Amino acid sequence: MGSEAAEEKTPYELLGGDDGVRKLTADFYGLMDTLPDAAPIRAMHKGDLSEMTDKLGTFLIGWLGGPQRYQERFGRVIIPLAHKPFPIGPSERDQWLMCMQGAIDNTSLNDSMKARLMDSFGRMAEMCRTKD
Ligand code: HEM
Repeated sequence: MGSEAAEEKTPYELLGGDDGVRKLTADFYGLMDTLPDAAPIRAMHKGDLSEMTDKLGTFLIGWLGGPQRYQERFGRVIIPLAHKPFPIGPSERDQWLMCMQGAIDNTSLNDSMKARLMDSFGRMAEMCRTKD
C-alpha cells in the first residue's frame, strides 16, 4: 500500500487468468492442426489433441506466472527431456514457434509483452531441439 512502484502483472494476469491461457493454448493447437506448414509437427502428435491441449494449457498457466498445477495433475516434467523421443530440428522448432506466434498475435497483449513472450518461447523451443 502506498508503494510507488506499480506491481508488474504476470503474463498470466495480463492474458486474463486461466481462461485466457486456455484460449491461447487452444488457438495454438488449432493453428498446428490447420496450417499446412505445421503438418510435420502435427504428425508427431496424437490424432486427438484434446489431452495435449489440457496438458500444455496447465503447464503454461504455471509457466506464465499463475498457479502451479501441472505437477500435481501430471507429475514432474522437465520440458527438454519430455521432447527427447521426437526428431526436433530447426525446422520443427520454427513450426512450433510459428503456431505460438499466431496464437500470441490473437491475444490483446501489447506488442512489447508479445515480443517478450515470444523470446521466452524461443529459448524454451531451442532447448527442445534434439537434432541439427
Ligand atoms: C520445439 C518444438 C516442439 C515440438 C515439435 C514439440 C512437440 C511435442 C510433442 C510431439 C509432444 C508429445 C505429444 C503427445 O504426447 O501427444 C510434446 C509434449 C509436450 N510439450 Fe512440446 N514441442 C515443442 C516445444 C515445446 C515447448 C517450447 C514447450 C513449452 C513451452 C512444450 C511443452 C510441452 C509439454 C508440457 C508436453 C507434455 C509433456 C509430457 O506429458 O510429458 N513443447 N511436445
